[in-house]
Amino acid sequence: MTGNYAQPEVNIGLVGHVDHGKTTLVQALSGEWTDQHSEEMKRGISIRLGYADATFRQCPGLDEPERYTVDETCPDGSESEPLRTVSFVDAPGHETLMATMLSGAAIMDGAVLVVSASEPVPQAQTEEHLMALDIIGIDNIVVAQNKIDLVDREQAQRNYEEIQEFVEGTVAEDAPVVPISAQQEVNIDLLMQAIEEEIPTPDRDPDADPRMHVARSFDINRPGTTWDGLMGGVLGGSLVEGRLTQGDDIELRPGREVDEGGETRWEPVETDVRSLQAGGETVDEVTPGGLLGVGTGLDPSLTKGDALAGQVAGTPGTLPPTWNQFTMEVDLLERLVGLDDQDIDDISTGEPLMLTIGTATTVGSVTSAREGECEVALKRPVCAPEGAQIAINRRIGARWRLIGVGTLTE
Ligand code: GTP
Repeated sequence: MTGNYAQPEVNIGLVGHVDHGKTTLVQALSGEWTDQHSEEMKRGISIRLGYADATFRQCPGLDEPERYTVDETCPDGSESEPLRTVSFVDAPGHETLMATMLSGAAIMDGAVLVVSASEPVPQAQTEEHLMALDIIGIDNIVVAQNKIDLVDREQAQRNYEEIQEFVEGTVAEDAPVVPISAQQEVNIDLLMQAIEEEIPTPDRDPDADPRMHVARSFDINRPGTTWDGLMGGVLGGSLVEGRLTQGDDIELRPGREVDEGGETRWEPVETDVRSLQAGGETVDEVTPGGLLGVGTGLDPSLTKGDALAGQVAGTPGTLPPTWNQFTMEVDLLERLVGLDDQDIDDISTGEPLMLTIGTATTVGSVTSAREGECEVALKRPVCAPEGAQIAINRRIGARWRLIGVGTLTE
């Protein structure tokens, strides 16, 4: 552990339309590149949620906003002081990846909405992502008006006004709009100041039973590793409360699918914590907030390729129930996001819905629809407490579209 180590304490989502500069901004703030997968590199988009940590620092001798920096050295040569370490969740902007954005939103404590100054406002996912933040109840938002290096002063001003008009009446109504260039690193200090002021570290209870939302899972072994060199499966996600210590027993729900006499059911999986990673360091214990990696004793074939994404981990016997079907109260949007002329029809019995609950995404078939409420049978069960928020998507044309929010009642 280095002297400068600080566990990330808050998760900040980077959301917005494809190519508006989310990944470039994360890089400017953290010096890391979140697009880690070769396929992503090729396609140039963040396919799965990308993660990067950044330590916000300050040079106490300087005024605001100049005092904010990610550099360890101040202009006068003195060492900067760490303020806090944040984890960025870089959500994909491509329209078909809305489910990934929604499941990422489950672990966001606040968000930076990146809007390009060089395009008309709003672009489709600018609007859809803002609506998703609204639905999930993320109201600590900063708007980054990016790519100001590409426009002249007048166009920047016009675009700024368009942004103000667009956020009016939404959850981002009072959010500061900070003009930046992620690529040229212009006004990054001003953006950091806005983030410090608007997105506080939430109060979390480190003494509660640990509960981790699993957003990703991996097999970190290189192909051809022999059995005696194999590392157990790794979980990536965020601890929302409690603490995890090396050696702890944990349970994962819903767990895994087992086939018994032609019938399939899901049963919880138990394992232990072999190693913990946070803020790029190996640590003995993690407290809530930030993104972390948990090395487990699980067979890596169980965790390969995000197979356990969407599950919940915690002390055995303390997790919320697993649901194969449930009833939810439904609150539909008035209009389809981005297609203002289309009303949203009531949910009908028999229709399939894509539901995001916590970091889990599952398809459910509506078995009974009533006024303001419906029952769904899930293709893949979810672990969630009563009262959990559910983002509801309906297939319209070739894609799933956000149509409303549900509350799990029983
Ligand atoms: P997805 O991850 O695919 O949703 O895209 P993204 O929003 O992460 O965009 P990304 O950071 O990949 O940037 C898209 C393109 O815009 C890249 O070619 C960047 O170099 C460029 N870009 C990002 N920020 C700026 C900026 O401030 N100015 C200019 N001129 N170009 C920028």
